[in-house]
Amino acid sequence: MGPPQAPQSSTEVLGFDVGGSGIKAGVVDLTAGRLITERMRYPTPQPATPVAVTKLISAMTDEFSWAGTVGVAVPAIIRKGVIYSAANIDKAWIGDRASRRISRALGRKVSVINDADAAGLAEMHYGAGRRFNKGVVILLTFGTGIGSAIFVDGELLPNSELGHLKLEGSDAEHWASAKAREDGRLSWKRWGARVNRYLQHVEFLLSPDLFIVGGGVSRQSELFLPYLDTRAKIVTATLRNRAGIVGAAWQARYRGET
Ligand code: BGC
Repeated sequence: MGPPQAPQSSTEVLGFDVGGSGIKAGVVDLTAGRLITERMRYPTPQPATPVAVTKLISAMTDEFSWAGTVGVAVPAIIRKGVIYSAANIDKAWIGDRASRRISRALGRKVSVINDADAAGLAEMHYGAGRRFNKGVVILLTFGTGIGSAIFVDGELLPNSELGHLKLEGSDAEHWASAKAREDGRLSWKRWGARVNRYLQHVEFLLSPDLFIVGGGVSRQSELFLPYLDTRAKIVTATLRNRAGIVGAAWQARYRGET
């Protein structure tokens, strides 16, 4: 590993996506919304405490020899750099000043954003939502949990948590996430019916014009899209497992923290 390189240009940003099972990263070219390096992935340390995750982010930044701007997406509510929830990460994150912690470790200002908000920003700027700068768009990511990002005329309403709407007596994400399908060994049809019920509930509450379905399952959307039926148009996310990384990079460069 050589000395840290100066970034090629200010439109190149290192993005991180911290998930329950893996921490993914790559250098993003923001003019195109594309990764210009390999996507690096390490298993999330267990327990995924702030100290352990920050250490890995720091080591991965070194592995990229990256001295430029860094953005990080986390599966939690984050306001002004402080974490307020931890449904699928270590509870030690609650109350943690994540931005300050990671900024200190990396020796530069790092912006931290919710993972679904990051994926939403990426899809709105470069992917499935790129032509929808009018009206209400809701991106939902189906993974370990259900993440959400709400856009009105292209502007993000940060930190929505629609995965925690109550449905069937518990949080919707316990019932309709991709993990719920795997854990319950549900057929695509049965899981699709659950997702449809959930989407119809969200539609009743917020009347979006468009749903973008994201998360790992978006790769296999032809298996469950036939079971979804809403007034709003439904499309599949296009950036796949890169959306969180690209969105984390985008917000670090153009938006800053909420
Ligand atoms: C968390 C959200 C997160 C989503 C997807 C939910 O359990 O509460 O903040 O965006 O999972 O990771």
